[in-house]
Amino acid sequence: MIIRPAKNVLGAIRLPGDKSISHRYAMLGGLAEGTTRLTNFSTGADCASTLACLRQLGCAVQKTAEGVIEIEGRERLAKPAESLDCGNSGSTMRMMCGILAGHDFECEMHGDESLSRRPMGRVMMPLRLMGAKITAGEADRPPLRVHGGHLHSIEYVTPVASAQVKSAVLFAGLLAEGETTVEEPFRTRDHSEQALRAFGAEVARSKNQVKIQGGQKLRAIEAYVPGDISSSAFFLCAAALFPDSNLVIENLLLNPTRAALLDVMRALGARIGMINVEEHHGELMGTVRIEAGPLKGLTIAGGQSVSLIDELPVLAAIAPYTASGIEIRDARELRVKESDRIALVARNLRAMGAECEEREDGLRVPGNQKLHGAEIDSGGDHRIAMAFSIAALRAEGESVIQGADAARISFPEFFNVLESVVER
Ligand code: S3P
Repeated sequence: MIIRPAKNVLGAIRLPGDKSISHRYAMLGGLAEGTTRLTNFSTGADCASTLACLRQLGCAVQKTAEGVIEIEGRERLAKPAESLDCGNSGSTMRMMCGILAGHDFECEMHGDESLSRRPMGRVMMPLRLMGAKITAGEADRPPLRVHGGHLHSIEYVTPVASAQVKSAVLFAGLLAEGETTVEEPFRTRDHSEQALRAFGAEVARSKNQVKIQGGQKLRAIEAYVPGDISSSAFFLCAAALFPDSNLVIENLLLNPTRAALLDVMRALGARIGMINVEEHHGELMGTVRIEAGPLKGLTIAGGQSVSLIDELPVLAAIAPYTASGIEIRDARELRVKESDRIALVARNLRAMGAECEEREDGLRVPGNQKLHGAEIDSGGDHRIAMAFSIAALRAEGESVIQGADAARISFPEFFNVLESVVER
């Protein structure tokens, strides 16, 4: 994909449904009584992997002519005939593993080359403590073999701040005997808690602890999935780069555990307005307007790095265009995402002529730098491909994004939507 420099970003867009919520609504829909109907379901390949796994597990899943995803739940999933293909999706493998842990059959889960390199010990550990038998390849990498069955509740303190791990334990907790507690070091996205409640389960939260009673029954829901806020990051950052920009994003997810991005954009100097905020099934959704201002710099660390984890690549990619740069700390997790995102961001920034300091747990990117177009290596990682497409809009000369097709993992329409708001 060739990205030419732009002059401005202007327009109004709506984004496909949030990836995190789409996964959860689909999985819980698979366990619920009745037919779950999901409008604006994520169009990404990751959520298609979740739907394909549900089909393999015996759920009828179909897309209506209007594009609504319908999932017929079944109280118990069926043993799949073949290994479950999770594609590129860590969310599918980790969260589904929690659900399979509560089912009395043996099955296998595998993924593509990138997913096969990702750590699974973080979900295996608590699920084993609950009574599931799980084995993996070398260093707890996929494929996973799961033999679930009768689970007992646990009180688990997660060493890593991961919403996927928390969700796997909560989903297993739903199928276990007794009350399961998960405590996390930093508060992570709470879509599983909200979704479980939407499907009729009781979930209690106090500070960083969540409790769920096993044996609760779920009931199907009808829902509109709010626009993906992590996908919106690319457009908010694009708009922030041009002084005369004005971009409106409608029906955007505004869940407070995901909306740190809006605070950061404001702190950087952009003007952000919000209207028509509504709540559906515990999730906030509204219309956001962004207009650029002179971009300052900032430091992102601690809990803020956790809540911005998927948005950090694009923030780092636009950092050279800020006045004093961006420093990212406490984000070691970026090294075990779909790619080593710290190394790839640093490499691609340097390819564009920027200086940056790579650290074990983050990066420091000085501000006030001029970038030139370059050949970008996405490393097959969707967020890297999209992040550097945005950096390329303000560079001098064209950039070529190698492996741009990776955008299909979360956002197949990305390049078309980008072209629709960019002025050249
Ligand atoms: C996700 C949680 C995060 C995030 C991922 C989606 C989720 O991963 O990076 O893209 O939907 O729960 P971790 O749980 O590994 O932090």
